[in-house]
Amino acid sequence: MCDTILETPRLLLRRWRPEDLAPFARMNADPVVMEYFVSPYTEERTQEFYQKIQKEFAEYGYGLYAAQEKASNLFMGFIGFHWARLDADFCPCVEIGWRLDHPFWGKGYATEGAKACLDYGFRELALPKVCSYTTHRNLRSQRVMEKIGLKRGTEFLDTSIPAGHPHNPLIYYHLSREEYLSR
Ligand SMILES: CC(C)(COP(=O)(O)OP(=O)(O)OC[C@H]1O[C@@H](n2cnc3c(N)ncnc32)[C@H](O)[C@@H]1OP(=O)(O)O)[C@@H](O)C(=O)NCCC(=O)NCCS
Repeated sequence: MCDTILETPRLLLRRWRPEDLAPFARMNADPVVMEYFVSPYTEERTQEFYQKIQKEFAEYGYGLYAAQEKASNLFMGFIGFHWARLDADFCPCVEIGWRLDHPFWGKGYATEGAKACLDYGFRELALPKVCSYTTHRNLRSQRVMEKIGLKRGTEFLDTSIPAGHPHNPLIYYHLSREEYLSR
């Protein structure tokens, strides 16, 4: 069975396989990868997140795709869509997001995969709008948002963490289908 949803020159974005769970948990427990999250994930937190990803696929037919490097066949992390339901005025909104394991950084993979997702999201899934957000400190992720053509929006406070937390404020990026297709 072919579980690939999107293919780019160097990546496969596909449905999750049971064997992805172990490298997914290792990645989520790595403090380097999770520097801009409140804390690395415990094994239980990864399980919960994995179930949430599966639920979103079942409900919407799209979600955070497992990302695989074609050259090595290794699982790298995820790139794809997720329904953002923060306490913020732009929510609910389909978020485009990414998390790759450290050895795969700096090769342009997140940008390559996210560009393919964005095109698929607007052309095939006909999403009216896509957003993305991250802490003001996460310049790498903001750079990916800019490279795929999202527009920088306002700063906002993530109310699920204390106002004075170093991750606050977050920066919101967005693009509508209309804007994407008219480029
Ligand atoms: C964010 C992440 C997905 C980026 O993956 P990646 O494959 O390395 O990204 P790309 O190579 O496509 O692009 C990264 C860009 O950031 C730039 N960059 C890297 N480190 C940077 C830094 N400290 N400050 C500013 N820009 C930086 C790179 O130079 C590159 O831009 P360029 O092509 O203009 O040179 C990856 O670092 C990651 O998984 N981080 C941990 C999880 C995370 O933060 N997820 C996002 C949460 S919102």
